[in-house]
Amino acid sequence: MCGIVGYIGKEEALPVLMEGVKNLEYRGYDSAGFAILGDDGVKSEKSVGKISALAEKISGKRFSGKTGIIHSRWATHGGVTEKNAHPHSDCGGTIWLAHNGIVENYKELKKELSEKGHSFKSETDTEVIAHLIEEEMEGKSFENAVSSALKKIKGTYGLVVLKSDEPGTLIAARNFSPLLIGLGEGEYIVASDATAVLKHTKNVVYLDDGEMAVLTKSGHKVLDLEMNQLEKEHHVIDWSPELAKKNGYPHFMLKEIFEGPEAVENSTRGRLIPEEGMSKLGGLESLTELKEAKGILISACGTAYYAGRVGEYMLEEYAGIPVETDVASEFRYRKPVFRDGDIFLAVSQSGETADTLAALREAKEKGVPVVSIVNVVGSTIARYTDAGVYQHIGPEIGVASTKAFISQVSIFALLTILVGRHREMSLVTGRRIAEELEKIPDLIRLILKQSKNIEALARKYQKFVNFLYLGRKYNLPVAYEGALKLKEISYVHAEGCGAGEMKHGPIAMIDENFPSIFIAPQDSVYEKMVSNMEEVKARRGPIIAVATEGDKKIKEIADDVIYIPKTLEMLTPILSVVPLQLFAYHFGVARGLDVDQPRNLAKSVTVE
Ligand code: AGP
Ligand code: GLU
Repeated sequence: MCGIVGYIGKEEALPVLMEGVKNLEYRGYDSAGFAILGDDGVKSEKSVGKISALAEKISGKRFSGKTGIIHSRWATHGGVTEKNAHPHSDCGGTIWLAHNGIVENYKELKKELSEKGHSFKSETDTEVIAHLIEEEMEGKSFENAVSSALKKIKGTYGLVVLKSDEPGTLIAARNFSPLLIGLGEGEYIVASDATAVLKHTKNVVYLDDGEMAVLTKSGHKVLDLEMNQLEKEHHVIDWSPELAKKNGYPHFMLKEIFEGPEAVENSTRGRLIPEEGMSKLGGLESLTELKEAKGILISACGTAYYAGRVGEYMLEEYAGIPVETDVASEFRYRKPVFRDGDIFLAVSQSGETADTLAALREAKEKGVPVVSIVNVVGSTIARYTDAGVYQHIGPEIGVASTKAFISQVSIFALLTILVGRHREMSLVTGRRIAEELEKIPDLIRLILKQSKNIEALARKYQKFVNFLYLGRKYNLPVAYEGALKLKEISYVHAEGCGAGEMKHGPIAMIDENFPSIFIAPQDSVYEKMVSNMEEVKARRGPIIAVATEGDKKIKEIADDVIYIPKTLEMLTPILSVVPLQLFAYHFGVARGLDVDQPRNLAKSVTVE
């Protein structure tokens, strides 16, 4: 889940590496380190904390060399210490490597290597790889030694390795952890994701599992572990480096919440045909099974999972197709039953989430057609599906997913029209959804204007440490999502709950110190929500409500109300989630926390 960058080329490596890894810091960030190979051998520095701590530690020092590797760690094996920070090296300090992933058989390997006389400096699983390569070097070339070592490893890796006596070579390899190679002019940049290479090049090669790339100043080759050379496709990334900057916003999270309207525009552009009450998803056209599908199995994690839950309600209500949504980490292990005519749909902003990818592989292995809604172009999930829809919302850097949710729900609305119109959905209904969807960006803009008021509200409630988020039907997943946002940004306890389910237990927690946030727009479950609100009020629980503009009744019950404009019930989640995103953001800021990089979390969860 960390970030890796490797450089070989004509420039001084360190500035390129530092800048690249800064762009990847959102992936994982408990410690960092680098190794630079120059005329006088390898020099390395490591530090606990963020990249800024590493930058501070090396200020005034010189690390000259045109080959190097850097890593920002999200610890899996071994504490967060300087010793455990990457890169790790072999006994002789010749082999240096940065690794993302987990070596599952590291204990056995470590024992074997220790018996052969290797001495270990860290508690990590990663270090065994360096010693394994050292062991394999006996009579072999660098690339042969790396491939032999990798064949002995069980587990996952994205890694980049250099050797002090081969200054002209960098080797990168991948197995279940993302890695790409930026092809610059006279230079190569290896990275865990595209944001780290954008400033240098938009031309990339994505490594696939079991592949290894050998990069030299004069060229590159991609091999499998049997050393067969492979033909790899070159891809062009269409993101500009500007998209990965804050552009005047204090945090990426706030910038990305404010990008919500464009997220809907970009995800729906060219995909809606309102006059025909139809949508067009080019990526799915080849998938004929979709039109005749008997059922859809949605699998995703976190925020993407909640978007899937909204999609489930839409597809069942308007397209009349049975849908089941499951968290990917459960899907794979609960022995799902696939029926003839089922389609598997993965939803993932990063396209790299290990759990989602594993669920997808499981479905694919069982012969189920797999499709995806993914943001990151060329990501593993996008490449492994039979067909898919890209979100086109640019990079999402804040660890808390915001614009991605809005975009995913918009895409579910497009999918609902597409699948529904091939079934029983009328032209009138198709038109109505399409026309309302077109208005959504402006409606989000109206909500964003209330950011200051929501900030004041967040400050008012900033001392509370428990929150219950309540919703029904389309806004039940929004309640879960609102609670997730608050938890991850503020580290306070927040729980999403079906408002109807509250009386079966959670209501016991309610008192004057336990506020509830009701997502209660005027929809088909409005009256029920109002009754549930009364139940909380009767127990002296403070209430914040998200309600439809002009709703006076709610104002009489709730302590505070945030208004959202009226729209079609199935599209309300795209609006109702925005105040909750803003509330979580301002709440976290008011509590003095690092909202872009909350503790213990990583943007792309590439381990199971
Ligand atoms: C959202 O705020 C979280 N950080 C997290 O739940 C995230 O949505 C989840 O890890 C899935 O990520 P993905 O969309 O990249 O697959
Ligand atoms: N398993 C390795 C470690 O704990 C790599 C973790 C990562 O991906 O950052 O050091």
